[in-house]
Amino acid sequence: MAAILPTFDMLLFGGTGDLVTRKLLPALYRRYVAGQVSEDSRIVGLARSSLTREDYVAQAEAACREFLGGEFDAEKWANFSRLLGYGRVVAAAAEDYVQLAHALQGREKIIRVFFFSTASTLFSAISENLAKAGLVTPLSRVVLEKPLGHDVESADLINAQVGAIFSERQIYRIDHYLGKEAVQNLMALRFGNILFEPLWRRGLIKHVQITVAEELGVERRGQFYDMTGALRDMVQNHLLQLLCIMAMEPPASDDPDAVRDEKLKVLRALRPLRDREVLAKTVRGQYRAGSVHGVSVPGYLEEADIDPDSTTETFVALKAEIDTWRWAGVPFYLRTGKRLQERLTELVVTFDDVPHPIFETPPPSEAANLLVIRLQPDESITLTVLAKNPGEGMRLKPVSLALDLGETFKTPSLDAYERLLMDTVKGNLTLFMRRDELDAAWRWIDPIIAGWQQYDEKPKSYIAGSWGPAAASALIGRDGFEWHDEL
Ligand code: BG6
Repeated sequence: MAAILPTFDMLLFGGTGDLVTRKLLPALYRRYVAGQVSEDSRIVGLARSSLTREDYVAQAEAACREFLGGEFDAEKWANFSRLLGYGRVVAAAAEDYVQLAHALQGREKIIRVFFFSTASTLFSAISENLAKAGLVTPLSRVVLEKPLGHDVESADLINAQVGAIFSERQIYRIDHYLGKEAVQNLMALRFGNILFEPLWRRGLIKHVQITVAEELGVERRGQFYDMTGALRDMVQNHLLQLLCIMAMEPPASDDPDAVRDEKLKVLRALRPLRDREVLAKTVRGQYRAGSVHGVSVPGYLEEADIDPDSTTETFVALKAEIDTWRWAGVPFYLRTGKRLQERLTELVVTFDDVPHPIFETPPPSEAANLLVIRLQPDESITLTVLAKNPGEGMRLKPVSLALDLGETFKTPSLDAYERLLMDTVKGNLTLFMRRDELDAAWRWIDPIIAGWQQYDEKPKSYIAGSWGPAAASALIGRDGFEWHDEL
């Protein structure tokens, strides 16, 4: 059983929103059931709706029943729900925070986590009002949900305004991909073993692919998504963070800043894409009606809350290059999209060919040595090696050394938000983005958006349930490679 954490107050802004109800409350319930949350901790939803505590608890219960499925236990819920509270807070209304301060009186010496799960345009007002009401204590910390801003300037402004109230050590910029067990495993694979390190470089790796494919469409988030698009929603954060972990130098320790310093170096070494290069090295896509696993689904333009003339991308593929000694000349192909053929998050490292083949070789499109690290839906590590095909002659064939991590450990892994929420209570910043990382990520993303605007690059249509527009295959094909699912 996990060790019990110090008592905390968790204040969830955007308390009736999707993230809080679908992810945060179920995550907190699971940690409570696991024995990590003390009985005198408090979890308070804050939102603009006029709800009673009972209404809120009922909403929270319905959501947890739905999202926890068979794991939901009415008796445990009854105990957990005693920790729940609700407060009506309009982000810009200073008087609402006075009420909140009143409700928290006497709890100033308790760890206080403010989780901002609202549009990032409200972060500054919320921080200021918290400070004015005297709610920011030395034991306070603030969690900022992504996307933080929509470009480098807006992110910078929010960071400055939140930074005027909270110190950098109190700011937890969340990217839930960093909290996934499988992403931690990637760190373990790279920095807990000597095996791959000597091979992890130019001359021995041909290219790296990072795919985050989703079957889902925009769901109930049409309004947000149409203003955001896949590049800002997924690439700027999740895919670039995965790229950092794949490409970073071994940190000197697992101290938060040691890890974040190394990730920052990768982001700063990304070769900028400018002007026409943007067109040559990126692909934008948008899904049209199709079917996913045999179920018909509408096109993006027919989804609720989407402008019928929208040119927002729901798919991005791009080629990134890292200008360092280790990675010069090794392309990193990134790809993400909604309504793709299957849910799949996968990192594929293709190693170089042997310098001098002495046996009959396999068909050219089949790479001999591939390391496939699958993060979702299941967690596995597969290494492809060539073995001799039985029979006469030395005909080699790719075979797999496969490790299914779920099967091996047989312990259910923590959901990303469970781990990250507990880390905020513990005060561990390792899995959160530092301000300079976020800044570097936006600095690389902004010129791509500018390039698309400059050349009026419209998204290419792809059929829902496919692997995205054909141009994505052409992007990697021009370098003589293929996406892993096309092998
Ligand atoms: C979120 C994006 O950050 O990540 C969503 O805003 C996306 O659009 C989600 O669906 C994917 O997360 P996961 O954990 O389901 O892969």
